[in-house]
Amino acid sequence: MFRKITHFLGCFLLFVAAYLTFVRILRRFYKFPMPHFMAPIIDNPLRRKFQPPDLLAVRHGLQPGMTALEVGPGSGRYTVAAARRVGAGGKVIAIDIEPRMLEKTACRAEAEGAINIETRLANVHALPFDSGMFDAIYMITVIGEIPQPEKAAQEFQRVLKPGGTLAFSELLPDPDYPLAGTLIRLIEPAGFRLKQRFGNFFAYTLLFEKE
Ligand SMILES: C[S@@+](CC[C@H](N)C(=O)[O-])C[C@H]1O[C@@H](n2cnc3c(N)ncnc32)[C@H](O)[C@@H]1O
Repeated sequence: MFRKITHFLGCFLLFVAAYLTFVRILRRFYKFPMPHFMAPIIDNPLRRKFQPPDLLAVRHGLQPGMTALEVGPGSGRYTVAAARRVGAGGKVIAIDIEPRMLEKTACRAEAEGAINIETRLANVHALPFDSGMFDAIYMITVIGEIPQPEKAAQEFQRVLKPGGTLAFSELLPDPDYPLAGTLIRLIEPAGFRLKQRFGNFFAYTLLFEKE
């Protein structure tokens, strides 16, 4: 019996490793947004143990009264936590390239009574906002699937207020997971300095400040 269980576990781990390797190689050459039907799959209790929504809202530097931008909200679970954190005097604007992700976010916001959330269909490469409009920008397991992250970083620099913050949270099973060092080398040249880092190799948050 014990042999059967270890055999099954070994096969399962091998399958997961092979799948992740295949997807990582594929996505190196061809980036595309996560399909919308995956949103409920990645929004699960196990994931929330490693990336608790309320804790991430704090780690992302959100404070009451702030105007924050979330890129790629997916199911909107983290958007609602962020909206609670910035409070009635603040606001969270969530943008996504996939309209059905925004529908999910808007539905969750309504169901949870979060009236300070606005959703906008937009590509992170060309943000439809005035310069210096946001106190904070954050994204969770998103930057790895952006085809031109350098261009996105320039947009973040433009729409942030002086001293505004930019946060990234990443989790290792994500096939687009970037190493923290890779992300720092990408973001700092766009005019940011690393302010704080949280977590560990498998689940981390990097908080940058606009210089
Ligand atoms: C892996 S999902 C993460 C969802 C959510 N942040 C979470 O952690 O549960 C990536 C999200 O980024 C969005 N996205 C991908 N490329 C984008 C782009 N170029 N501009 C805006 N959003 C994008 C996807 O549609 C999707 O909602």
